[in-house]
Amino acid sequence: MKFIFNKIPRGLIYHKVLESVRYLLTSFFMPLDDKSAIEKFEDKFAKYCDHEYCVAFPFARTAIYFTLKNLNLPSGSEVILPPVTIKGIVDVILALDLIPVYVDWDADTLNFQLYELQRKTSSKTKAVIITTLFGLVPDMKELVDFFRSKEIFIIEDFSQCLNGTFDGKRVGTFGDVGIYSCSSIKTLDTLGGGLAITSDTGIYEALRKSQAGLFPAGRKFLIKKAWLNLVRNVATTRLIFSLAVFPLFQIMRKANPESTLKQTGSRNKDRVSKLPKVWFSSYSSLQANIGLAHIDDVSASDQIRIDNANYLKAKCGSDRFPKTAQSSANVYWQLVMLQDPKRAQEVFARHGIDTATTSLELVSALEQYPNKAAMPVAEKFYYNGIFLPCFPGLSKADLERIVNAANELA
Ligand SMILES: Cc1ncc(COP(=O)(O)O)c(C=O)c1O
Repeated sequence: MKFIFNKIPRGLIYHKVLESVRYLLTSFFMPLDDKSAIEKFEDKFAKYCDHEYCVAFPFARTAIYFTLKNLNLPSGSEVILPPVTIKGIVDVILALDLIPVYVDWDADTLNFQLYELQRKTSSKTKAVIITTLFGLVPDMKELVDFFRSKEIFIIEDFSQCLNGTFDGKRVGTFGDVGIYSCSSIKTLDTLGGGLAITSDTGIYEALRKSQAGLFPAGRKFLIKKAWLNLVRNVATTRLIFSLAVFPLFQIMRKANPESTLKQTGSRNKDRVSKLPKVWFSSYSSLQANIGLAHIDDVSASDQIRIDNANYLKAKCGSDRFPKTAQSSANVYWQLVMLQDPKRAQEVFARHGIDTATTSLELVSALEQYPNKAAMPVAEKFYYNGIFLPCFPGLSKADLERIVNAANELA
């Protein structure tokens, strides 16, 4: 039995276990509505992102909802979306009587194909959500020039790409509004939250008004988030992962080889009939204080992950990974490689390593939703894009093991 106490998990929580314990304990009694802490974090996040303003919402989907709502678009207007994202974003678009239109990926950037964009945009296209997945930065200039030339409102969802840049400019600041989800497992994780950044005073003032209409933050909801954060954190510590979680995954895979493929498990695919109330509760000061305590640590841990990813890419062969653009500075929130996922899990498991595929949804294929469309490139990556562990905390020996396993698969 190799690596009995040293299995490598598929990912990690960007908090120490003791911090997660503290968040859980304080979630029972700390004030949730200290406005000055929330404003301080909003201000800090805006400055951190080289922008004027930030407005905090409980989820990224809520920030997207209000950004689009405040545009007062005619019903039936179209919003360009990536084929892979969270289902909640499609739910808010439909709730506003707008129509999602999916555009397939370019295999080098895992972002929109320019040719497909030209084909899918029309006079009805009023907005786009450019989504920089996995910490990969596409040619932002080319995309933004295209949307600007058609006067399409640009939202950037940079939840997976905080600190990524193109030609020295930060991802999240190219469009009209940038949206960052500080949900569990993100590099700046504040037990959830959706931060909208902009330098447009009109957009900012409208978002502030929307924020003022939210329900008070819910304590029960936060306790649940803090609990999940702690459970995931403990489950991915080396000892617990090696002795309990990894063997459990092996048993689950024996019963059903598909059962552990999704990084954080499968999500509900049903269409929501009404947007849940919890999507409209306020971001809390407890979350803002977590953000304030951690924001200055993100770049240092990013750098370790980027170095790990570059090392793995060089050792496994760069042509096995999306190559993005010349001026892209990727942050590799996840390092994606195309491979048969079940075989990859099996081979990696022999080296004591856990791998997974994305937990996001292939929204372009959702049964109960409109405008379903085939997306050959995105589907290939969605089903066969496995994540090589590259997070901070991996030793040189861990990285060698990952290289050996990846090369056995080649
Ligand atoms: C690209 C992207 N957008 C949005 C989200 C989450 O959004 P929300 O804060 O609405 O849960 C995630 C997190 O899983 C994400 O990866």
